Amino acid sequence: MNLLLFAYSQLWTLDKKLWEKKHAGSGVAAASGFDVALVEVNDQIAAKSLDSIKKSLTRVARKQFKENEDAQQKYIEETIQRIDGTSDLSKSVKGTDLVIEAIVENMKIKHELFTKIDSAAPPHTIFASNTSSLPITEIASVTKRKDRFGGLHFFNPVPVMRLLEVIRINETSDETYKKMVAFGEAMGKTCITCKDTPGFVVNRLLVPYMAEAVRMLERGDASARDIDTAMKLGAGYPMGPIELSDYVGLDTTHHILKGWNEKYPNDPLFKPIKLLDKLVEEKKFGVKSGEGFYKYN
Ligand code: CAA
Repeated sequence: MNLLLFAYSQLWTLDKKLWEKKHAGSGVAAASGFDVALVEVNDQIAAKSLDSIKKSLTRVARKQFKENEDAQQKYIEETIQRIDGTSDLSKSVKGTDLVIEAIVENMKIKHELFTKIDSAAPPHTIFASNTSSLPITEIASVTKRKDRFGGLHFFNPVPVMRLLEVIRINETSDETYKKMVAFGEAMGKTCITCKDTPGFVVNRLLVPYMAEAVRMLERGDASARDIDTAMKLGAGYPMGPIELSDYVGLDTTHHILKGWNEKYPNDPLFKPIKLLDKLVEEKKFGVKSGEGFYKYN
């Protein structure tokens, strides 16, 4: 599998931190030797994406080639050369073996994208979604290639987190599944397999955990700092649940909870949280907006 397309049509605000986060995956794929077409809504944004990937690669290069600036430069340049930042979706998809969609979490918009590329992509091309919480089966429903459809769910920060969740829908063929796993392993990830269930493995456990921490804060049981310290030092997590919520994005956590609450109204784990509603209303989304539960420079 040689060519790969990350369709990153961004429909949300272009703040720097979110930007870096959303594009790091393309850099990791290119660094693993894949040719990547990074599709954006327009050429200007596509060019900007390459700048943010360069920043992410610089961080990785500094770590990988500590004292050797020439090697760092070579790594960055060779990797960047493998990425084609473009807005020409139909043209890019023609030469692609695997499409990974990572656009806004809106079913209608995802359907529009997949309907468009299903007719433009070669028959062998595999489609995957990087959705955090929407059903892959429903996303795939508008295509005629359900046997070549699955989920590939990455974690932030993509260059550091070693997990890739590989999601099989009922129709995903064994061949498609094997290719998705091979792709993940070629990117240096450890793959786990999950059925198309809400939140797959990580978010199904992580989102209720973060929500419980916010409820605990809302009740005034402990301060944000103490909840975070408790889980870091008492349970060995690299980040506490409140700072992790800020890192993931309060809008993202809110969106996931809201969707699940609509779908499973009787499940207490997914009930809305007034404190979270308030912060999101105030556009305090966490690290990416400069303020959430904590303030960031
Ligand atoms: N790109 C490249 N490298 C990065 C990076 C990035 N964006 N962020 C961190 N790193 C590297 C650093 O260079 C550093 O490398 P060295 O140790 O070799 O120097 C290493 O990662 C650790 O980084 P820092 O020292 O800056 O900070 P840290 O030790 O506090 O670690 C962290 C930062 C890796 C983010 C760590 O806190 C962590 O693992 N947090 C938990 C993250 C997590 O749970 N992610 C999943 C979120 S859920 C999700 O993504 C799914 C979803 O659908 C919502």
